[in-house]
Formats: sequence, structure tokens, C-alpha cells
Amino acid sequence: MTLLMERTDIERFRSIVAQRLGLCFDDSKQGFLAEVLQQQMEASACGSGALYLRRLSASVEEMRAVAEKLTVCETYFFRYADHFRALAEVVIPQIRARGQRRQLRVLSAGCASGEEAYSLAILLCNELPDLASWHITILGIDINVAMLAKASRARYHAWALRDANADLRATYFRSEGTEFVLDSTIRSMARFEERNLVEDDPSFWQRDAFDVVFCRNVTMYLTFEATQSVIARIAQSLHPSGFLFMGTQKHSVVFPRTSIYCIRTKRFTTSAGTLLRQKATAFSC
Ligand SMILES: C[S@@+](CC[C@H](N)C(=O)[O-])C[C@H]1O[C@@H](n2cnc3c(N)ncnc32)[C@H](O)[C@@H]1O
Repeated sequence: MTLLMERTDIERFRSIVAQRLGLCFDDSKQGFLAEVLQQQMEASACGSGALYLRRLSASVEEMRAVAEKLTVCETYFFRYADHFRALAEVVIPQIRARGQRRQLRVLSAGCASGEEAYSLAILLCNELPDLASWHITILGIDINVAMLAKASRARYHAWALRDANADLRATYFRSEGTEFVLDSTIRSMARFEERNLVEDDPSFWQRDAFDVVFCRNVTMYLTFEATQSVIARIAQSLHPSGFLFMGTQKHSVVFPRTSIYCIRTKRFTTSAGTLLRQKATAFSC
């Protein structure tokens, strides 16, 4: 079949992807976008770019397929150890000090294949000797359904555990062939759902719905507008003294220099990196 793809189709593709998925592709990625567009046109037997783009705009399934192709899903267990240390040393004691209601609602926004959400579950298991008396929810959300399926399977290769020490591997994983199978108790602590961070859904993003949000290595792939809307949504759903963990490889800093700043005023206490934000009060540790 001859495929009629014009330069304007690539532009339109880029703009639909930015608007619907929030993903940002600069001019240097035009070749990659053209390749994906062509593959999707072939797979859906659309002879022209215009026809395919109409289909893309109207079909949830097609948008899912595109999200799978365009997202970067690199992740691993205990990525950036300092974030987990900050959670154990700063966040949990503060939440514990809040009062008798032992509730901890954690969101892993852009969870990919689940390593982040399960690392949080493992950490909570280790840090809360009275775990049974807590009401804990760990929810992972993502637009890539293939990754979410992998998260639910909870079977990983050694590469995903490259930053996990031997004790942790032995305690929480069972090896089966080349795979490491996650302990079923940890697995049952996290659940996953398909959700687009760029789409508003007031029934999900309710006020004070989460105590801790991890949204790491996600906004670096989003447009400025999408980033703004995602952060605003998360800020609205964070408990007034909740925490948001962000940060990328480039901006990761060691725990003693962790910066915590206030979302409401957007005032940075340090510019070392967007690592840890507390919603109501700003301080550094
Ligand atoms: C690089 S991974 C980060 C995984 C994990 N948070 C970490 O830091 O290790 C980025 C994830 O963000 C997801 N993502 C990108 N845009 C999204 C959107 N609009 N809504 C939900 N998830 C999105 C991708 O599918 C991908 O799985």
C-alpha cells in the first residue's frame, strides 16, 4: 500500500500527541515521530496521514497504541536512594506525628512497570513495624498499558534490581529462571490503573486525596503547559502537609541537601533540584 504522509501530517501528529498525552517532541525528534506515524498508518491500514490522524483523534485504542510507542519507560527499584531515605527519615515521622489516624495514601504518578510503587511498598514494610495498624494505599498510574500489565505481573529481570541490595533481593524476591518474582504481600500492597495525567478527572483528583506523591522522570517528557497542569492537579490533591517527590537523573541530589519547598507559593528554598516538596510549609533539611 502506498502511504501518503506529508510534512504537515507530522506536525499535526506532534500537536495531537502534545495536546492529548502532554508529550513534548522538539524538532530533533521529527524523524522518530515520522517513523511512528508511518508504523501506525501501516498497522491501521490508513492510506493517508490525514485519514490516520482523524482516526487517532477519535479512537481511544489508537491513542493507547501511540502512547505505548512514544513513552519512555525506564525505571528500576529504589531509583535515587536519597528519595527513599527522605521518605523514611522525614516524611514518615511527620505523618506519624499527625495523630492517631494511621493513614498513608501514596501515588506513583507515571509508575511505568511498577518498580517505584513496589519500592515504596517495600520501604513501608521495613519502616513501619506497626504496619498492620496502618491503612496504606499505594496507587500507580500511567498511560502505557503494556507497562501497567508488566507492573501487575510483578516479575522483573536483574537489571530492574541493579540498585537493590542482596538482602532486599533475598527478602522480597524469589528467583525463577532469569526472573525475580516479587513477594505476594508486597505485590498486594500496590495497585495500578491506566490514567492520563494530562486529563482532568475531578472524581480522581480530589482535594487532599494523597499524603505522598512520587512523580519522577515524567514531567521532563511533557510540554510546559502539560507540566503546569499536572503539577497543579497534584498540588490540589496533596494533603495540606503532604509531600511531592520529583526530580530527574540530572537533578538528583544527596539527602542532606534535599530541598523542600512550598507548592502553594512556588518558592524554592534551594535550587539544587526539584527533589522534595512539602505543600504547606517550606523548609530545608
Ligand atoms: C521514565 S518513566 C518514570 C518511571 C518512574 N516514575 C521512575 O522515575 O522510575 C516515565 C513514565 O511516565 C509515563 N507518562 C508519560 N506521560 C504520561 C501521562 N500523560 N500520563 C500518565 N503517565 C505518563 C510514561 O508512560 C512512563 O511510564
